[in-house]
Amino acid sequence: MKHIISARQFDRPQVERVLADAALMEAVLQGSPSDRLRGRVMAALFFEPSTRTRLSFETAMLRLGGSVISTENAREFSSAIKGESLEDTIAVVSGYADVIVLRHHEIGAAARAASISRVPVLSAGDGAGEHPTQALLDLYSILAEVGRLDDITVVLVGDLLYGRTVHSLLVLLALFSNVRVICCSPEQTPLPQDLADYAVQRGVQITCEQDLGRAVAEADVVYQTRVQKERFEDVEAYRAAASRYVIDAAILAKMKAGAALLHPLPRAGEIAVEVDRDPRAAYFRQSHRGVPLRMALLDNVLQDGLRPLTGRRPISVDATATARPGVIG
Ligand code: NCD
Repeated sequence: MKHIISARQFDRPQVERVLADAALMEAVLQGSPSDRLRGRVMAALFFEPSTRTRLSFETAMLRLGGSVISTENAREFSSAIKGESLEDTIAVVSGYADVIVLRHHEIGAAARAASISRVPVLSAGDGAGEHPTQALLDLYSILAEVGRLDDITVVLVGDLLYGRTVHSLLVLLALFSNVRVICCSPEQTPLPQDLADYAVQRGVQITCEQDLGRAVAEADVVYQTRVQKERFEDVEAYRAAASRYVIDAAILAKMKAGAALLHPLPRAGEIAVEVDRDPRAAYFRQSHRGVPLRMALLDNVLQDGLRPLTGRRPISVDATATARPGVIG
């Protein structure tokens, strides 16, 4: 049984295989409806708000012929409000479904759930901890937009302290060669030191830059993030952090021609709407890639070994080039 609870559980070949399978799933999406996961049930247990992650997981399951049971706002509308522990909820739901997608407000919740569950648990974010499936989707987008994962400079902007997508992304970037990361964060939300140490030990070159314009001029990828309002106790500190780095037309003008601007979304003012028209603004394309990427993950944890993807081969650096229509039934 395979759980996905942290980006740290992946090695490079595993990441490359997920990305190659996601490319194959793009072909499935274009073909006739698939029944690869017919008869399988995915439970989506979301204790925190979500639009993209929940709906793309649900879409992914439905596109593969499976079914979905779902608790949105589980903090209020599940038995959690009656005092049920996460462990008890998982013990029950893992008797109903074949896979559980869990978003929870506490760091470590996904690991706790996995230790109880009889079925695979896929983390959809645990508090300010990690968001591994988003990070896989982010890598998939970098590959699609920039064409490579080695030899890149990535500028991480915004909330590097509470932003769980950044935490998982940095861990995955550390699997690749010659990766340079420039951190551009308000003083209230720096990158946690243990995470910086983890990446540096694995060869990532990390620097900090206060001047966003100077940072983005170096970038192949600019990864903007929302300051995580819900994790702040001090409203003034939130306001100061949130207004610090905004990407507008003037900042965009400093980016390289072939660079990509990513954001896990939702945005809350940190990318001006005027930027959307620029071809480098890749965040909506990025959000759409959540479906094939999560199809690949669900297929991997539920079906792998039963009816393997045909046409699978080790990833080439350009994963999207491996997509061959019609190879998956
Ligand atoms: C992110 C999250 O929930 O961590 N959203 C997402 O899953 N795409 C980012 C955020 O909420 O700012």
